Amino acid sequence: MSRIAYVNGQYLPLSLASVNIEDRGHQFSDGVYEGIAVRKGQIRDLQPHLDRLWRSLKGLMIDIPMAHGPLTMVLREVVRRNRLRDGFIYLQVTRGTARRDHAFPLDAVPSLSITCRRLDFDGVAKRAEVGVLAHSTTDIRWGRCDIKSISLLPNVLAKQEAREAGAFEAILVDSDGLITEGSSTNIWMVDDAGTLITRDTIDNILPGITRAVILEVAAELGLKVETRAFSLDEAYGAAEMFLTSTTSCAMPIVGLNGKKIGAGKPGPIALKLLAVYMKKLDQD
Ligand code: PDD
Repeated sequence: MSRIAYVNGQYLPLSLASVNIEDRGHQFSDGVYEGIAVRKGQIRDLQPHLDRLWRSLKGLMIDIPMAHGPLTMVLREVVRRNRLRDGFIYLQVTRGTARRDHAFPLDAVPSLSITCRRLDFDGVAKRAEVGVLAHSTTDIRWGRCDIKSISLLPNVLAKQEAREAGAFEAILVDSDGLITEGSSTNIWMVDDAGTLITRDTIDNILPGITRAVILEVAAELGLKVETRAFSLDEAYGAAEMFLTSTTSCAMPIVGLNGKKIGAGKPGPIALKLLAVYMKKLDQD
């Protein structure tokens, strides 16, 4: 069955779906996106994803393409037409199509496109049993990383650097030597006392939806949490580390820059958080 995309009012086979050559997303990265999980045919955490999309649009002064209600219907229709059970929805809004000029066009209509693909959550859980490796690199991004902008070149370069170093994820480090986040994930550590530490979202990082759910799970489990920045050195001495994102859920990090984290295998707190997270994903 061919995959179906939604582009500006039309549902089309992926091979026929296209945007205008003068779309400002294509020419200026002038747009925002969301990535949303689908589990057992249900769209998960839709409200927080839409809230974040609205904040991103506002942050870039891009008009809202469609109200929450109709957009929810379109997302459900994309899931239905693709017969998606477990998957990932990619939604992108750009400022629209106009003759190339840096300043905002006066009359552009935002462009909305949505695609989806399968995501094997059991495969994610299997990978978590082994854990992943991380590689650190300098964070060269701009000052508005709270906006989920499609302008991801620093993230792309960082991820590629990590992959070439044999790692799964790049951990970004700011000019003070503090970890900001991953190239497409939020980063956490657990100290020897079992306290969870993750950077505050007021600190120019993306407010991850998975991060927010994991904070809820941590509260339910009675775990102590500190939302503050931590350095690479502190991370090297962590009892555990893990990353969170829609596609990786809560994934243990077992090595950083060739050094073992904790015992060099997935830690019990990360695995517990993942187990509860997966249960929530199944039930909600
Ligand atoms: N990435 N930080 C960055 C820079 C991200 O790009 C993402 C998401 C996250 C985690 O956010 P969430 O828990 O809401 O997925 C943190 C998505 C998955 C992507 O770019 O594909």
